[in-house]
Amino acid sequence: MSHSKPTSPAVQAVASPQFQSYLNNDGIDELTPISRKHRVSNLSLSDLNQWQNGLTKLSSSTSLSNSSNNLKKADSLVKLSRNSSIIRRKKKTVIDHPRVASYAFCFDIDGVILRGPETIPEAAPALRMLNGENKYNITVPTIFVTNGGGKPESARSDDLSKRLGVKITPEQIIQGHTPMKDLVGVYKNVLVVGGVGNVCRNVAESYGFEHVYTPLDILKWNPAVTPYHDLSPEEIAAAKDVDFSKVSIEAILVFADSRNWAADQQIILELLLSKNGVMGTESTTYDEGPAIYFAHSDFIWATNYKLSRYGMGALQVSIAALYREHTGHELKVNRFGKPQKGTFKFANKVLTHWRQGVLDQHLKKLSINDPNSHEADILINEDGDEIINQSKLETYDSESDEDSAAEIEIKEPLARVGNEDKIKLELPPASTVYFVGDTPESDIRFANSHDASWHSILVKTGVYKAGTVPKYAPKHTCENVLEAVEYAIEREHQKELAEWNETVDDDDDKGSRINFADLMMTPSDTAKPEKVVQKETIVRKTRPLVVTEHEELEVPTLLSQEIAKVKDVKVDKP
Ligand code: G3P
Ligand code: MG
Repeated sequence: MSHSKPTSPAVQAVASPQFQSYLNNDGIDELTPISRKHRVSNLSLSDLNQWQNGLTKLSSSTSLSNSSNNLKKADSLVKLSRNSSIIRRKKKTVIDHPRVASYAFCFDIDGVILRGPETIPEAAPALRMLNGENKYNITVPTIFVTNGGGKPESARSDDLSKRLGVKITPEQIIQGHTPMKDLVGVYKNVLVVGGVGNVCRNVAESYGFEHVYTPLDILKWNPAVTPYHDLSPEEIAAAKDVDFSKVSIEAILVFADSRNWAADQQIILELLLSKNGVMGTESTTYDEGPAIYFAHSDFIWATNYKLSRYGMGALQVSIAALYREHTGHELKVNRFGKPQKGTFKFANKVLTHWRQGVLDQHLKKLSINDPNSHEADILINEDGDEIINQSKLETYDSESDEDSAAEIEIKEPLARVGNEDKIKLELPPASTVYFVGDTPESDIRFANSHDASWHSILVKTGVYKAGTVPKYAPKHTCENVLEAVEYAIEREHQKELAEWNETVDDDDDKGSRINFADLMMTPSDTAKPEKVVQKETIVRKTRPLVVTEHEELEVPTLLSQEIAKVKDVKVDKP
């Protein structure tokens, strides 16, 4: 795709190596995306899961290979070994049985799904397609990562559900400020900036922050703090009565776009230059003020106006310029939002959790229509494919197998026992995560910088202008979100079909062999699964591969310094 429009002198200026953007001083461009050590299967998650749980030595139970009402009852789960599953599969020209994809989708919102108050028309059909309405009957786990905010995740998901005609839940939504939940245990007194009225205060309190103040509270306490702005009746109603000469603000959390740049900047700068975050005080060293966190750093964003508008990144630049002009120092800020690594890790955790939920939902649905299904471990659907009986798995009661369990000493449990009667199995990482965005500086950089299995797609319905050269090159560019989904579903079906047929035997009756040893669930060493690896290492090895890769949350360096600073500071209660 050629981006051949001549670049304007202004674009050349900011692109020149001399120009050091304040918003680009956090080393993200120096990051190397992690690449997988192990191959991740492109076969669907539900197929993999069923086969992985095909915990019956199928080779020993030939009876399974004919009619569906010949259900087999496995006598005890713990006796079953993971890697000896042999699955009967036929060569295919298309894979279209209902299943859950091993790949996943992640959407930006402004400029991809919405343009200001308007819904982009291709968004609804795109989400329906990922929800299973496609010729391959595949359901693709999907989450949303927006730098936007200023409302509860539940309000955002309800709004999207109505607009898109597909059920979207709060668990699928990450807004710019969502990862700030992890700061709840660090700060008690926080000033939350942005949004309308008390919306952001309510969101921060719903996250668990104890004392949440807003600039409106400060203006009500002393309107002289910012000249030229008289509080409206709504603003007075939203403000709390607080004596800020007695409150020490520990952190400033900019949750959403400011609705009053003049007043918010006046208050933020006064606190940054204060002694211990107390209004009306001034530090002589300018380093005694509260920490400041921004939900994102988007310099511009796409609304329903024809040209992009300044965003929170522009406010950051303005505050940093005032701070530098006032102190001669560079302002240190903590950033969340795309393209930050902290938000990437947060998104991965949310995506893993959501994929597990979609898989459980799917497996539950599978075994309803057979009267004897509750008995059997393995069921045969009308296509002749064997499927694990999920509901039996979930009602498995380990007690009754006490004696047989004892006999096999398993170092690492094959499966984790959640609460007493639930068995939870680890999920492989997504084979590919498609990230669709409209802003190269935040979206494409986010998808390209952290994990090589993420596939960035740039659409032309937002900030990015067709024909210009995006500062960060996407893996694919297309007109809109629907084209992005069609492109990915087709691309993934090709990969899945190739792998499916790669491992089938031509002659039907002998059945196909899959040895999970060489799939990603186990390390790439092709040690014979039957031997010790089976019991000893494989199970152990799989554990670190799967989820932990993205588990711990990146704590911005400044934060740990802050934690050290505030650990033993006595804050006098407001
Ligand atoms: O204020 C949010 C805007 O800057 C971008 O939102 O959804 O494109 O990440 P989004
Ligand atoms: Mg966007």
